[in-house]
Amino acid sequence: MIPVILCGGTGSRLWPLSREAYPKQFLPLAGARTMLQATALRLDGMDGIEAPILVCNENHRFAAAEQLLEIDRAAQSILLEPSARNTAPAIALAALAATEGGEDPLLLVLPADHVVADTTAFQRAVSGARALAESGHLVTFGIVPTCAETGYGYIRSGDAVSGGWKVAEFVEKPDLATAEKYLASGDYNWNSGMFLFRASRYLEELGQYCPEILAACRAAYAGAGRDLDFTRIDAEAFARCPSDSVDYAVMEKTEAAAVVPMQAGWNDVGSWSALWELAERDDNDNLLRGDVMTEETSGCLVHGGDRLIGVLGVRDLVVVDTDDALMIADKSRVQEVKKLVQRLKKDA
Ligand code: GDD
Ligand code: MG
Repeated sequence: MIPVILCGGTGSRLWPLSREAYPKQFLPLAGARTMLQATALRLDGMDGIEAPILVCNENHRFAAAEQLLEIDRAAQSILLEPSARNTAPAIALAALAATEGGEDPLLLVLPADHVVADTTAFQRAVSGARALAESGHLVTFGIVPTCAETGYGYIRSGDAVSGGWKVAEFVEKPDLATAEKYLASGDYNWNSGMFLFRASRYLEELGQYCPEILAACRAAYAGAGRDLDFTRIDAEAFARCPSDSVDYAVMEKTEAAAVVPMQAGWNDVGSWSALWELAERDDNDNLLRGDVMTEETSGCLVHGGDRLIGVLGVRDLVVVDTDDALMIADKSRVQEVKKLVQRLKKDA
């Protein structure tokens, strides 16, 4: 089994800490290790697990390589994308790399930016999914939903199969009314964004539903150059690849999807409020990092560095201070931080 660690996202909802130069997967957001390091360490002790394949943007090659080195782990290859084409192509590149020598391993696809509190439960769920993946299923790991989050995929289970269920329906990022309906029905799980399947099965399903993506990735991988531990994907060919996520491109369409439950304290740390929720807070429900002084302040997340921050008489605010940007937001609105990032991009 080869882990495929996806670390090419931008994490724009965690601005201004998560930046183009250092997106959230390369930051120690929820502990001493960076999210990428925690993802790699979570695999320690698993049976039959090989060194991971990392897929990231070429601008982040040194961050990715150095962070693995720091924890004394090695990747079997680091695939460098010259441009971001979302996760369906990223996984296709990894599947092409994994099958190059004629092998057909199981791929355990892992986003690099999730918190998983219970490593044992995580590993147990992956082991439990093995037989299903070996028999040709594209396995997702289902999380019991706790709110009508619209940023996730929703899975309705069908017939029971060994270790899990067939997926009867997979809906990526439904609108709020639909998400509320799904939550109330009790019939849906969230898609954790982790997958287990044979490399060849992914390529077959991608070829069936999105042949243009597969063709572009084949050309881009065939034209790749080797440079130290890095595989540089051909820029011109990859630029012609349509951009789509694995969820829309394959998981919503395939008839071979199965779901295995995972109860491992999963959190995708998609926003400042998610981080506030999962971290330990003080008696006033504040999460304070850096040199922070508060008076009559509650429910706040204040993240700074060496500069002293004083906060007085406010509730439910998020304050994030970095060297070149300060953000202040209502905690209930932090999903919209993307709006600020989009404006920055427009003005640049
Ligand atoms: N290499 C590479 N290239 N990685 C990428 C790219 C890319 O172009 N785009 C995103 N990633 C990485 C991100 O860094 C992250 O680790 C992972 O792929 C998932 O991408 P997100 O952009 O964070 O996806 P999402 O959160 O909107 O949705 C996915 O995850 C949800 C759970 O967190 C979906 O799988 C949903 O169905 C799921 O519920
Ligand atoms: Mg995500």
